[in-house]
Amino acid sequence: MSEPRKILVTSALPYANGSIHLGHMLEYIQTDMWVRFQKHRGNQCIYVCADDAHGSAIMLRAEKEGITPEQLIANVQAEHSADFAEFLVDFDNFHSTHAEENRELSSQIYLKLRDAGHIATRSITQYFDPEKKMFLADRFIKGTCPKCGTEDQYGDNCEKCGATYAPTDLKDPKSAISGATPVLKDSQHFFFKLPDFQEMLQAWTRSGTLQDAVANKIAEWLDAGLQQWDISRDAPYFGFEIPDEPGKYFYVWLDAPIGYMASFKNLCDRTPELDFDAFWGKDSTAELYHFIGKDIVNFHALFWPAMLEGAGYRKPTGINVHGYLTVNGQKMSKSRGTFIKARTYLDHLSPEYLRYYYAAKLSRGVDDLDLNLEDFVQKVNSDLVGKVVNIASRCAGFINKGNAGVMVETNAAPELTEAFLAAAPSIADAYEARDFARAMREIMGLADRANAWIADKAPWSLNKQEGKQEEVQAICATGVNLFRQLVIFLKPVLPLLAADAEAFLNVAPLTWNDHATLLANHQLNEFKPLMTRIDPVKVQAMTDASKEDLTASQTDTGEALPAGNGELAKDPLSPEIEFDTFAAVDLRVALIVKAEHVEGADKLLRLTLDIGDEQRNVFSGIKSAYPDPSKLNGRLTMMIANLKPRKMKFGISEGMVMAAGPGGEEIYLLSPDSGAKPGQRIK
Ligand code: 2FM
Ligand code: ZN
Repeated sequence: MSEPRKILVTSALPYANGSIHLGHMLEYIQTDMWVRFQKHRGNQCIYVCADDAHGSAIMLRAEKEGITPEQLIANVQAEHSADFAEFLVDFDNFHSTHAEENRELSSQIYLKLRDAGHIATRSITQYFDPEKKMFLADRFIKGTCPKCGTEDQYGDNCEKCGATYAPTDLKDPKSAISGATPVLKDSQHFFFKLPDFQEMLQAWTRSGTLQDAVANKIAEWLDAGLQQWDISRDAPYFGFEIPDEPGKYFYVWLDAPIGYMASFKNLCDRTPELDFDAFWGKDSTAELYHFIGKDIVNFHALFWPAMLEGAGYRKPTGINVHGYLTVNGQKMSKSRGTFIKARTYLDHLSPEYLRYYYAAKLSRGVDDLDLNLEDFVQKVNSDLVGKVVNIASRCAGFINKGNAGVMVETNAAPELTEAFLAAAPSIADAYEARDFARAMREIMGLADRANAWIADKAPWSLNKQEGKQEEVQAICATGVNLFRQLVIFLKPVLPLLAADAEAFLNVAPLTWNDHATLLANHQLNEFKPLMTRIDPVKVQAMTDASKEDLTASQTDTGEALPAGNGELAKDPLSPEIEFDTFAAVDLRVALIVKAEHVEGADKLLRLTLDIGDEQRNVFSGIKSAYPDPSKLNGRLTMMIANLKPRKMKFGISEGMVMAAGPGGEEIYLLSPDSGAKPGQRIK
């Protein structure tokens, strides 16, 4: 027997200013299944996480809610913890980056980097909001595009003409937070000298730590040359003050990954047998894996190992990157009800359905994973209920009634049992490699064989025949043993099903190695249904409720606030948009000059719209509500004027009019109050 491995595992730290959704859950479920597999195998595997609590977005959101950032992050942490627990994500510790351990470690790492010469300082000039008295990141500034003159463009690029520029090139700049005209101001910033680590990173990123696709991407960045990384932000900022630098704070992404260490440190401090240095020391023999999404690879595969190296810590063994979640083939969408919060899912469906579906579709690559809701229902019902649970439910009754619940010793299918045993190493390899999809395929292949064998033996027919009862008992005991083996293989994915099965089997918690043994002369407990089929009505109810979540969040927000955290790129999974994206939409009052039927189109009307300086041709799917289009002539409505022209079967549509309602006759074109003029912008 080889020594148990010592493994420390993390998932990316969720921001403490938003709810967990099914896109997040992909990563936490993936990680949890891998961690559970390691524990199942007898390895020491520790899974830590935390809320990512710092940054200007959290500060501004707390301000808007009239609470302190500390209150906000405490509320969110309680919500996140409950969501994770109910999804059976079993962290050994879920901490916060706004914690003393993290302050100490961040300061210590910074000081080590500084003392080793890896920190540079220089003055940079940035826009400053004189009312809010804060420096403005690019996305907090709006103004007129210097190239095409479009108003209300944010940050460093124009949504209309695609030009990129410095915020200082914007005409008539305004603070998106207060509306004040920003002024230019200098400030001293602190930079981490990433280029000092170019050689180390070149070797480390090619040493099996990354999937090939990720390593190739990183190689492009390395070839292009690394830049120094700005790790400081000026007050006011919610974070940790930089040692010896009053008024300067660590940028949220500096202390976020250190939050992995801090969460582990917090666990060590109350777990005597855990030694922090054994996992993080330079000579650590423990393995360290970070599970992340593909949007934050640069932070984990460049900045983080360089910081660790520079501060004298060990580097990660592997960065395990996954793709994004799509739902029904598209980005999660609030209006389609596919932007599903963890809580909304849990209100309607069992967590294990999703855990299984994700497992069945997750391989070790960085491809996106599609949660197709129809396929989800079909696959879970067919595999888990129709195949796995079915084996136990087919056999348990006969053992209960025919032999007082005692499994006989006879193995009626030695070859099949042997095949199950022989499959174990390959299933384990698939789990180890995070190829959960292959593991599930192999397990379901075994379940198919077990079902086919039971169907062939037909104990329900034999049981009606004189003198066949012994055979029935042998078949059913064998069936239950095969079921038990499947449960052992599935336990990392389906811990609740496994616990219920253990209760039925009347056994201690099963471990991986138990698959090599069989139950014989063994008393079972009463069989209770282990899993019910997914009712598609519940899936519909979940998507309907997700649409309602949207309505609720629209009505309770009031003032628009830039989403995201600090200066980070927004999670590209999230359909929430930045204020600047919203402001990039050119909404105009439009006069319907003419509305007419389109020959051959069932749903469309052709609208000729006057938007002041030009006329637009727009096809709109509103025919069902306006069977007599001429009634629309002369009416004012609202349109999105800067939507990319779309080539349709009947011509080019140059924008979109705005309407509300569920469809059919219930479509209501939006109109401005009287007095509005065609072409006026909606603000
Ligand atoms: O992208 C995000 O959601 C970040 N909050 C992840 C941080 S992971 C780690 F580095 F802390
Ligand atoms: Zn422009």
